[in-house]
Amino acid sequence: MTNCEIAQVRAVCPGSFDPITRGHLDIIGRAASVFSEVIVAVGRNTTKNYMFDFDERLQLTADAVAELDNVRVAPIEGLLVDFCHEHDAKVIVKGVRFGSDFDYELQMSQLNRQLSGIETVLLPAGREFGTISSSMLREVAHNGADVSAFVTDEVNRAVLAKVARSA
Ligand code: PNS
Repeated sequence: MTNCEIAQVRAVCPGSFDPITRGHLDIIGRAASVFSEVIVAVGRNTTKNYMFDFDERLQLTADAVAELDNVRVAPIEGLLVDFCHEHDAKVIVKGVRFGSDFDYELQMSQLNRQLSGIETVLLPAGREFGTISSSMLREVAHNGADVSAFVTDEVNRAVLAKVARSA
C-alpha cells in the first residue's frame, strides 16, 4: 500500500480512449496509487465518431496499462452506474484539464450520484499532459503531425497505420 492508498476501494476510470493518451495514463496511474484497484472502463459514447473501433480501443488501452499491477480493463455497455454496481466499485475517477471539463464532470457526477449514490473523484490533470485530448490528437495526426510525445509507442504506431489507411 502506498502512503495515501485508500484500502480496499475499487475505482473506475471510464472513457472512450480513442486512443488512450499519456494524459489518460497519468490519471489512471495516479488513481491506482490512491485506490486499491482501478478498472479502466472502455465504452462507446453514442454521440462520438471513433478513429479506432471498440476492440482496438480496448486492446490499445489494455496494452498501455499492462504494467500497472492493480489496474485492469473492461468493456462498458449501458450505464456507467450499472457497470460500477456490477463490479462493486465505489468511486468514479475522472481527470479535469480546465474549466469546461469541470462543468461537464460536475453535471455527470451529480447525475451519477443521484442515480446510484456513487461518488466521483476529480483529479486535476498533470502539467505535462494537461491539455491533450484524444480528439485534438486525432485531428493533428490526420493532418500529418507527429503525436508521438502524447501517446505510447504502440498507440503511435496504431495511429500512423490508421492515418495511412485513410489517406
Ligand atoms: O468521456 P467519454 O469518452 O465520452 O466516455 C465514454 C463513456 C462510454 C465512458 C461514457 O459516455 C459513459 O459513461 N457512457 C455510459 C452511459 C452513461 O452512464 N451515461 C451517463 C453518465 S456519464
